[in-house]
This record gives sequence, structure tokens and C-alpha cells, in this order.
Amino acid sequence: MKYKISASILNANFLRLGQEISEIKDYIDEIHLDIMDGHYVDNISFGPDIISLIRKEFSDITLDTHLMICNPDKYWHTFIEAGADILVFHKEATQKAYHILEKIKKSGKLAGISLNPATDINQIEPLVDVIDRVLIMTVEPGFGGQSFIKPMLKKIEKARKILGDNIDIEVDGGINNNTVKDAQKAGANTFVVGSHIFKSSDKIAEIEKLREILEH
Ligand code: DX5
Ligand code: ZN
Repeated sequence: MKYKISASILNANFLRLGQEISEIKDYIDEIHLDIMDGHYVDNISFGPDIISLIRKEFSDITLDTHLMICNPDKYWHTFIEAGADILVFHKEATQKAYHILEKIKKSGKLAGISLNPATDINQIEPLVDVIDRVLIMTVEPGFGGQSFIKPMLKKIEKARKILGDNIDIEVDGGINNNTVKDAQKAGANTFVVGSHIFKSSDKIAEIEKLREILEH
């Protein structure tokens, strides 16, 4: 399955976000946008207006939007209108996951569901026919720069068995040169990479190293 690198801007320098994105955009597959509301997670990041600005400036980049917010049923369309190409929200945040996923797909965009580390992977089974992507959190959601939770490898394996080969498995949190290969071997094909890229002094070199590891 084709692998993808989704660069999380959570740890980018927001005062120069445009330049930060320009610098890496030709080397990555997607930009990962972490939306945090201070309720679902203990952090507040940014909202749809920033996504609209990114969309206007970079019309051809795939925007992978990860909603870590309560009430995704109330807000999903705002993020589609802002320019998201892929919209992922948390299973734990709503009782209406199937309904929201259906609506995202009807709007012509890709739909994904995300699970916190403690949430059982079997929860995705009833949703398989309305998802394009499952995002498995490999850290507790809320902050960049945390360490990969190793027992999540088993969860990725189980997810791949449930999903077959046509649905993306995205891993998010603690992905770097030491963890990316294990996640790939377990069955993941989409890799969110945040601080490993944006805290580096040579972002392109780090992305190329990751590609090298993923291709061998
Ligand atoms: C955490 C976010 C991640 C985060 C990843 O809640 O969902 O996307 O930015 O950052 P790193 O790669 O630093 O773990
Ligand atoms: Zn994320």
C-alpha cells in the first residue's frame, strides 16, 4: 500500500506559518492540521480561519484535518467549508459517528475516525463502510513531542485485519526515525510527523530520511 507522510504543523512557528509550509510542501504528501478546543483535549490550537488561509495560499496541498473537539456533529461542515480535504474526528467525542461520516462523504470529501490509545479497535467495525481512514493515536492526544506508545503496534495490526487494504491507517504521535518502521510493519500507511520535522534544523533532510526508511 502506498505510504504517505502527513506533516503536523502543531509545532511549527506560527508567526511564519506560510514560509514553514512553503519550505516542506513539495516533500510531503499531506499537511496535518490539529484542531484542539480545550475541552476534548487540554490544549487549544487554532480554528477554521487558519485553514481557510492555508487553503487560499496553497490550493494544491492535501489538508488532513484532525478534529480533537467536542461536538464534531456541530462543526464538521465548518472545516469542510474552510478547505479540508480529509476530515477526521474522534469516536469518543460523539454518539453520532456513523451519521457524521456519511455526511462528510456525501460532501465529496474523505472521512476518517480517530481513536485514543485506550479505545478498543473493535469500535471501528460498524463504521467500515463509511470510512476512508482510521487514525490511531500513538500518544494521548493534546500535545506534540510525546513518546510513541509501543502497545499501539498490536492495535494497528488488529486494525489492518479489520480494514483490509483499501482504507488508510494513519498513526499520530511520536513518529520519528526510530518508530516509523515498526508502525509501517504493523500495517500503518499514513504517518503524521510533527516535532521531528518542525523542531529540526534541516526539515527536508529529516523527511528524506523518513522516506528512505519507509522505502526499505
Ligand atoms: C497530538 C496531535 C499530533 C501531534 C504529533 O494530539 O494529534 O498530530 O502534532 O506531534 P509529534 O509528531 O510531535 O508527536
Ligand atoms: Zn493529529
